[in-house]
Amino acid sequence: MTHMHITTWVIALILVIVSYGLYSAGNRKGAKIAHMILRLFYILIILTGAELLFRFTVWNGEYIAKAVLGLVTVGLMEMLLIRRKKEKSITGIWVGFIVVLLLTIALGLRLPLGFKVF
Ligand code: HEM
Repeated sequence: MTHMHITTWVIALILVIVSYGLYSAGNRKGAKIAHMILRLFYILIILTGAELLFRFTVWNGEYIAKAVLGLVTVGLMEMLLIRRKKEKSITGIWVGFIVVLLLTIALGLRLPLGFKVF
């Protein structure tokens, strides 16, 4: 399931870039399709993350933080695309997204399941 979790968010990242590029290129129809598929992946990320979370009967602060950061990352992916679509200012969201994404990945790798890096 850890591999499923990683696969879902890697595909989601690719879809964010594809949808963002299509919105920027003015291809609204293509962007809409990529964005819809991405929304399906949000659900898969959350389901696979929740499955990992519910394997533990006692959660420590790091698990709660991982889940909250994961949800914030997904929220920022959606905000990025909505703001791009509406052509609103986006620099702050990009910075926030990258910071939160890196923190989520670092904390995910620090926690005990799956690959051990940190
Ligand atoms: C885009 C969002 C997310 C990213 C980039 C992300 C990233 C990661 C990474 C890199 C790992 C480590 C995998 C490994 O060690 O092999 C992980 C594990 C985990 N994730 Fe996520 N995640 C995201 C969303 C979520 C969400 C929404 C939840 C909770 C609902 C969640 C809960 C977990 C849990 C419980 C683990 C297991 C930690 C452990 O190793 O013990 N993640 N995630």
